[in-house]
Amino acid sequence: MTENTSITSRPRVLSGMRPTGRLHLGNYMGALYNWVQLQDTYDCFFFIADLHALTTDYADPSTLRQNIRDVALDFLSAGLDPERSTIFIQSHVPQHAELHTLFSMFTPLPWLERVPTYKDQQEQLREKDLNTYGFLGYPLLQSADILLYQPDFVPVGHDQIAHVELTREVARRFNSLYCSQPTPAIEKARADHSDKEIIAAEVAANNVTNGILPEPKVLLTPSPKLPGLDGRKMSKSYNNTLMLSEPEADVRAKLKTMVTDPARIRRTDPGNPDICPVFDLHKVFSSEEKQAEVRQGCTTAGIGCIQCKGWVADAIVSVITPIQERRRILEADPDNVDAILWDGSARARRRAIQTLQHVRQAMGLE
Ligand code: TRP
Ligand code: SF4
Repeated sequence: MTENTSITSRPRVLSGMRPTGRLHLGNYMGALYNWVQLQDTYDCFFFIADLHALTTDYADPSTLRQNIRDVALDFLSAGLDPERSTIFIQSHVPQHAELHTLFSMFTPLPWLERVPTYKDQQEQLREKDLNTYGFLGYPLLQSADILLYQPDFVPVGHDQIAHVELTREVARRFNSLYCSQPTPAIEKARADHSDKEIIAAEVAANNVTNGILPEPKVLLTPSPKLPGLDGRKMSKSYNNTLMLSEPEADVRAKLKTMVTDPARIRRTDPGNPDICPVFDLHKVFSSEEKQAEVRQGCTTAGIGCIQCKGWVADAIVSVITPIQERRRILEADPDNVDAILWDGSARARRRAIQTLQHVRQAMGLE
């Protein structure tokens, strides 16, 4: 595709997703569904963060290739449109790794050590040895992902806010180190060897200088509460998911087993939708009218849970069926999918090379 000015003059967004296998409905509603909508308004860059997958799965990369393929199919079948979005694979744009290395030169270690996900994930993934350089650098690689493309916004969920914050600090530090005359305050702090004051002075200085790497903002993705079959948050590790590619019969069968208001034991007991996880699914997938009908029927014992689950199954099936149809068409033509990723990665590289040229120059490498 030729670079179209009416598209490229729009504000830009960039986001990425780690390839951890096929998406479930929680992944879809929490990210991809929103990305598809963003294409109407923004110049979009979306990528598969395969290097990030290696930060936790370096010991067994055997599934990576298939996972990348599955996520690519999920992206495209959900409606990411290569005509409107630059869709690419992180490792196919080697500038991500290069910028990460350059950033690592001036990023203070404590900035990385205090990112909340660092210790949290190490605790949660006890079975893996995450005492690695790459894992500590995870959010810095993410900063490189972002700053390579100068997006205005980074659409992410709550859990990623700290990573975008770090990105902003890295941009600020880069800009003040390499793109501006140091202010007297910075010079004094440097002479005093006070790291704290240097950073404070840099922050103050950045308000008046315009650097090579503009600071992006978070675009918080509305992510509805999506319970899994057991009522806990839908998550692969709880084994309670419905997949985006789940066959209709399985969706219906699985939903029949979903937990409901535990106090509603007999068909004649009225229920309370406000504590029922099935109703949380209605809130995401059913119309307002249907939700009102469920509430009325449930609280008066006018409907049974089986019927209620049938309705939510209908709503979910109507969302995933067109996605699955597109997926089948794409699966039948793998060369086409490869070509889309190939083109997207080439387009991303062109942008990334430009940024790297400026960065290399600023850091004395040209
Ligand atoms: N860390 C993100 C996640 O787990 C994925 C990601 C990698 C990302 N690089 C990014 C998101 C750049 C936004 C921008 O969801
Ligand atoms: Fe939950 Fe629906 Fe049963 Fe009410 S009728 S308890 S909302 S499953």
